[in-house]
Order: sequence, then structure tokens, then C-alpha cells
Amino acid sequence: MSLSTMKSSLFLALVLTATTASAVDFKSQIAPIFRNKCYACHSVTKKVKGKLALDDDKLSEQIGAGKNIVPGEGAKSTMYVNCTLPNDDGDVMPPEGKNRLTDAELATLKSWIDEGASLTGGGAAPAAAPAAAMPAAGGVLKWTNTEGKTIEAEFMGLEGDSVLLKIPSTGVTHILALSKLSAESQAQAKAAKK
Ligand code: HEC
Repeated sequence: MSLSTMKSSLFLALVLTATTASAVDFKSQIAPIFRNKCYACHSVTKKVKGKLALDDDKLSEQIGAGKNIVPGEGAKSTMYVNCTLPNDDGDVMPPEGKNRLTDAELATLKSWIDEGASLTGGGAAPAAAPAAAMPAAGGVLKWTNTEGKTIEAEFMGLEGDSVLLKIPSTGVTHILALSKLSAESQAQAKAAKK
């Protein structure tokens, strides 16, 4: 992400401190991703490969400890992890690098799982709140970029050389290169990583 994009998408959006954090909504944000990118092979209306159906009414079978979606644990959920693998990895989903999820879709998918993988709309399931999984996520932290601008956002995880920061006011998670952050903020991201 270029610095100018970061400025517009993050720093401008965020000037303002948030009041309510909105959770990812399954029906409007997650189901369409599965429909567009996974149903060809994972829907009872088409094919069910790997015994995995992602239809709205089948998905609950995939959610739980030890299953493909572990509520509160996006980074450990195969539903997310397999979508982040390199194109040539045998487990990458969708296979062979075709119709990959965009960075934004990946971030949304991870946030949804981190927030508890609720199938009933925007509310995070309180019991599965990711607090335990994310020591730093107890609240909103301050982040400073290399230009000295500061924003407030919730740490959602590290992905390679990037940090996922959720803007409370919009509920949107952004992916920022660590190299665009100040040394202190980089250290904060690394310390927050579980
Ligand atoms: C072109 C067909 C195809 C598409 C599209 C596809 N998959 Fe798969 N998927 C498979 C096959 C085949 C397997 C079984 C692989 C195996 O068992 O070795 C599988 C297995 C999986 C598994 C592991 C299931 C398990 O219990 O081991 C996950 C998770 C998964 N897919 C997620 C997804 C997601 C999420 C998408 C959409 C972003 C997707 N897949 C799109 C073909 C596909």
C-alpha cells in the first residue's frame, strides 16, 4: 500500500476517534465472498469438495475448536490460513492461485473469525471475544507512521511484514506495511503479536 493510499484510507478516515466498533456482518460481508470464490467447489448447490460445504445453513458445522473456523482465532483457522498460502502450495484455497481472495477480503474474513464467527449478523459472539487471544487488543492503541502522524486503531494481527489495524469508527481492517510505521509502532505491533 502506498503512503498516499494509506493516508487517505487510514489517516483521513480516522481523524476521529471512534465511538462504536462495528463487527463484520456475515450475510453482507462474508457469505458473498464464499459465494463468489468458494461455492464452485464447496456448496451443496454445486460440488462439495473436501466434505466442506460453505452454504449459509451448513457453515455452522465448520465452526468450533479443532474445526476449520475457530472462533476468536482467525490466524489459526484453516478457513483463513489456507486462503493466505502461496499459489503453489498444495493446500491453497481456492486452489492453484485462481480467483484468490483480495487483501481486503482476507482481512474481512480474519476479522469475522477473530470477532467470534457469528452467523447471525454483525454482533460478535461475546463468549468468543478475542480478548484472550489478543493481549493487546484490549483496546485501541495509538499508531504513528513514518511521517509522525498518529492514529488510533485496534491491533488485529501481523501478516508477514504488514500489520492489520482495525479502525474503530468504520470497523474496517486495513493492512499496513510495518515499514510505514515509526520504530515505536513497529515494536508495539511485534510486542502485540501473540
Ligand atoms: C476449484 C475447487 C475449489 C475451490 C474454488 C475452493 N476449494 Fe477449498 N477445497 C477444494 C478441494 C478439492 C479440497 C479438498 C482438498 C483435500 O482434501 O486435500 C478443499 C479443501 C478445503 C479446506 C480444507 C477442508 C478440510 O477439512 O480439510 C478448506 C478450509 C477450504 N477448502 C476452504 C476453501 C475456501 C475458503 C474457498 C474459497 C475462498 C475454497 N476452499 C475454494 C477445492 C476448492
